[in-house]
Amino acid sequence: MKNIDWKSLVFGYVKTDYNIRCYYKNGSWGQLEVSSSEMVSIHMAATGLHYGQEAFEGLKAYRGKDGKVRLFRWEENWKRMNRSADGILMQPVPKEIFEAACMKVIELNSEFIPPYGTGGSLYLRPLLFGSGPKVGVSPADEYLFMVFVSPVGPYFKEGFKPVKMQIVRDFDRAAPMGTGHIKVGGNYAASLKAGERAHKEGFSASIFADSKTKQYIDEAGPANFFGIKDGKYITPDSGSILPSITNMSLREIAEDLGLVVERRHVAIAEIPGFEEAGACGTAAIISPIGMIQDRESGEEFILSKNGEAGPWCTKLYNYLTGVQYGEVEDKFNWCTIVDNV
Ligand SMILES: Cc1ncc(COP(=O)(O)O)c(C=O)c1O
Repeated sequence: MKNIDWKSLVFGYVKTDYNIRCYYKNGSWGQLEVSSSEMVSIHMAATGLHYGQEAFEGLKAYRGKDGKVRLFRWEENWKRMNRSADGILMQPVPKEIFEAACMKVIELNSEFIPPYGTGGSLYLRPLLFGSGPKVGVSPADEYLFMVFVSPVGPYFKEGFKPVKMQIVRDFDRAAPMGTGHIKVGGNYAASLKAGERAHKEGFSASIFADSKTKQYIDEAGPANFFGIKDGKYITPDSGSILPSITNMSLREIAEDLGLVVERRHVAIAEIPGFEEAGACGTAAIISPIGMIQDRESGEEFILSKNGEAGPWCTKLYNYLTGVQYGEVEDKFNWCTIVDNV
């Protein structure tokens, strides 16, 4: 076990011992390579640097109550990475390569997996980009797929406490028929200005309105949005948001707990009617939202009067994190036990 102050970990980069790489060249994928370098040497004309041929994933491995290490829904991340690859014409990564890279990188860095009870986890960051040179705009002939890891604590520094978010209409992170539904770097570049401004103005994230009509909620920075009202779990359906694996899981849990799940356009005008709201994603799992400001009108919608997370957000959070930490039965078969750790 490494000498790390586990309790004070944030969601950030910590150097670990190894990462895994696999190169696509001359029409096929090579062998997995183990590297102990944090650096990547790539061609200066790589399409990943010029034309945004780059996609990534994020998933977590958890040290459970029983000491076992569980990797959460890696197959869904693999599928999504290949949807991203398809969207920007990159080579898809074979399932065996994705799985072996994830398992190997956890095994090799097992001393960095935060102990049970610290609230931490090992974050895996798979990355795929065009590494081959092109000067004209076209897809590369060579690709690098790699996975590195970092031990992380909770994403939102406030912890499981309601945060404030801000609706923005003067920035779009994705176009209606663009790349918002896949996890490509360009979407994140497009979201930076709004996100930084939101932070400066005292909010943890911006909530993007749909870029076509600006009437509906798209998503909440690097997380999906959900609201609770009249026994319903309501979450936006939009072609320009990332299909969150956490949200997919919470929808199943919500049904299991007796909520009715609605996936549909969610009007900004509906916000005052929500009893609770949250942002969900791998990093934060759930971040309860206590207040939403509409930046344009200046209106503020209060969703938590006492500064505490609401009962449904709490139940959903405890259920999902319970499955991830091996405290609650994994009846959906979401976790893969990692060997040799
Ligand atoms: C834009 C965006 N939306 C939503 C999510 C949440 O997705 P997931 O639950 O798969 O982590 C993420 C993070 O991956 C994201 O970057």
